Amino acid sequence: MPNVKYAKRVEFMKDTAMYMRGLFDNMTDPNMRSFGGGAPARSVLPMDCMEEIAGEVLSDAGRGFEAFQYSAPFGLADLRQAVCDHLLTPTGIEAGPENIQIVSGGLESMYLICQLFIEPGDVILTEDPTFIHTTDTFKMCEAKVIACECDDHGLVIEDVEKKIQEYDAKIVYTVPTFGNPTGRSLPVERRKALAELGSKYNIIILEDDPYRDVRYSGEVLPAIYSFDKTGNTIMACSFSKIFAPGSRLGYAVADPEIIYALRDIKIATNSQPPGISEVLLAEYFHRGYYEKYLAKMVELYKAGRDAMMETMDKFFPEGFKRTTPDGGYYVWVEFPKSVSTSKLKERAQEYKFTFLSGGDWYPNSDPSEHDNTARFNFTTQPVEVIKEGIELIGKLACEMAAEAK
Ligand SMILES: Cc1ncc(COP(=O)(O)O)c(C=O)c1O
Repeated sequence: MPNVKYAKRVEFMKDTAMYMRGLFDNMTDPNMRSFGGGAPARSVLPMDCMEEIAGEVLSDAGRGFEAFQYSAPFGLADLRQAVCDHLLTPTGIEAGPENIQIVSGGLESMYLICQLFIEPGDVILTEDPTFIHTTDTFKMCEAKVIACECDDHGLVIEDVEKKIQEYDAKIVYTVPTFGNPTGRSLPVERRKALAELGSKYNIIILEDDPYRDVRYSGEVLPAIYSFDKTGNTIMACSFSKIFAPGSRLGYAVADPEIIYALRDIKIATNSQPPGISEVLLAEYFHRGYYEKYLAKMVELYKAGRDAMMETMDKFFPEGFKRTTPDGGYYVWVEFPKSVSTSKLKERAQEYKFTFLSGGDWYPNSDPSEHDNTARFNFTTQPVEVIKEGIELIGKLACEMAAEAK
């Protein structure tokens, strides 16, 4: 073993890093039927159309040079325009290519934003529970993560304002639409209020919104970004949920001044987004495949969501509570306190099913405090596997609740 001394940040991120390692191990275990990760279904990955697109464009006569050469640090111009035309303008967001930075995977926006705004020890406010992968990044960048009070609709604005003042917070981080892990969506008036807090305290509202386009029910909600009049909101999105996680592409939307500054951080980090992926994605938009695949995803995932919720209602123990997501990838469950989801997960794994226990997703609590919570993904597995697995997990949970009596 080398006798080397790691930087302090490695210590700060130790717990979240261990959790993330376990999550990816679980997600990539071919023997496990997982409700744990946030992966798209195999059948909606763009494999069919990529035979056509890749064959045509990754050639000298096509866009091979753009794909394989060093490219623009902002990202390809036609991809940034396609983001505006296909994703932002149709949902009421006014933005042009000057507002867009293409990034190498959605999570990279969080990293670049921390590099731009966070000094060691600065506070980032989050939901409670919040997406553990981003807290891993925040901790790596030496931020202090403080969770704010949440109710059934998400962040409680009064508590956010109180904590901005108390901690002199630099960033408020939220996943406002079909949130990860809860599946909840923040109502319009709270979105507006958050944008106003960004302006009032001159801090960054970081709106992480990778699920916003994957909606099964309810009205489209305006982005926090659309209420921002002062350039304090940055929207971070990913192509992992609407194209392919393996493309390692995402985008940030912000005031052009901030986009310029982010570009400098991007150049210092890894120069530019992956050109091969960018060209394939740009053509996916230009040839009208995005809308077709999205419609397939929505139909498939809605069936998965409905099957999961129905099976939970039938087989989960009395007194359990769950969210009803209008879109996205996850249902969040609170079991009675007698059910330990970390133990339940171990029992489920004996039958080759897995999910995520929720205790670690509360940034400032000991995991044991919320060991009755869990996140279930309904997009990765086919409906029949969802029904079989959720019924089994429900029966195991009932046994556990009965044992505790
Ligand atoms: C809320 C949220 N933000 C960011 C990401 C990261 O996306 P990517 O896979 O593009 O890095 C995810 C992925 O699960 C997510 O759920």
